[in-house]
Amino acid sequence: MNGAISSWIFSLPSLSCLGLGSNNFSGQLEDFKYNSLVEISLSDNKLQGYLPKSIRNLVKLKRLHLSSNNFSGKIDVSFFSNLKQLSKLNLSYNSISLTNANKVKSTLPESLTQLALSTCEVDELDMQHNSLSGDLQTTFGLGSGLKSFNLHGNNVEGKIPISLAYCKQLEFLDLGNNHFNDAFPMWLGILPNLRVLSLRSNKLHGPIRISSSTKLFPKLRMLDLSCNAFTAEVPTSLFQNLKAMRRIDQTVKAPKDEYYYARLSNCGNDSGDVDGQGVFLDEMPRIGKTM
Ligand SMILES: *[C@@H]1O[C@H](CO)[C@@H](O)[C@H](O)[C@H]1NC(C)=O
Ligand SMILES: *[C@@H]1O[C@H](CO)[C@@H](O)[C@H](O)[C@H]1NC(C)=O
Ligand SMILES: *[C@@H]1O[C@H](CO)[C@@H](O)[C@H](O)[C@H]1NC(C)=O
Ligand SMILES: *[C@@H]1O[C@H](CO)[C@@H](O)[C@H](O)[C@H]1NC(C)=O
Repeated sequence: MNGAISSWIFSLPSLSCLGLGSNNFSGQLEDFKYNSLVEISLSDNKLQGYLPKSIRNLVKLKRLHLSSNNFSGKIDVSFFSNLKQLSKLNLSYNSISLTNANKVKSTLPESLTQLALSTCEVDELDMQHNSLSGDLQTTFGLGSGLKSFNLHGNNVEGKIPISLAYCKQLEFLDLGNNHFNDAFPMWLGILPNLRVLSLRSNKLHGPIRISSSTKLFPKLRMLDLSCNAFTAEVPTSLFQNLKAMRRIDQTVKAPKDEYYYARLSNCGNDSGDVDGQGVFLDEMPRIGKTM
């Protein structure tokens, strides 16, 4: 099938599932007149233009698959905040730019378990202190412009999304105060611009091994691994590679607005972290003192 999606489809009062994926539909989506839809699958077509505003009102929507089209425009994450049932959101392979400009407390719906944003332009994704839970399968793809990803203070489980390795621009990553259950993600070390990494208060475990021949974490300035279940001491060789941090050992004076900090202790629970916020923003004991 090709051409535009017929208008009458948008006016069906009790339609619950709109599945028109993998066709050659083109043109723009019209506004949905009713809010009965539970699932929209329009992936793999040639649809374009902005997402219709009426998507905000589809309060029954559980799955929204719009990947592999040519949708465009800036969408604030709050666009989806009324969709309290939404569990799967796939916006991959479009020209969508997801923003977080409103900085409202409730950003993405709590029910979200899958968030696919490959090739979407996402500068900053701030989802801290929401109630996102389960194994949040967030995928970012090659070319992702993501600079800052903050998931602090949710209830996310499972593995750390490996697609973060594609986010070469990533500077700030805070996955603290969740329930990630994984080994130390050494692979994050390939990110050339990563400056702040907090994995505190999760269920990360096992040894932290690093090969001293590889230059990992070239720009890391702040590292918080405390309150996990790593088995062995953090090897000092880790810090040989943390060039940006080694500068501190040499008591090179950091610019006033920059803090260098590494916190590594294991702890049984999270009582030390009053609210988690600002862990990196207050001046902290410097590396060396905390080890
Ligand atoms: C879509 O169109 C392309 C050419 O424009 C054609 O090769 C392809 O078979 C079409 N796909 C479908 C599902 O109709
Ligand atoms: C999202 O859509 C892309 C493209 O259709 C697909 O490859 C990917 O598996 C989907 N992601 C999820 C989490 O389903
Ligand atoms: C996608 O849309 C943009 C305009 O938003 C247009 O310039 C471009 O040609 C479209 N690409 C395809 C493959 O249709
Ligand atoms: C957490 O630690 C504090 C002090 O170290 C202790 O009083 C509290 O009982 C602990 N809570 C749990 C759930 O282990």
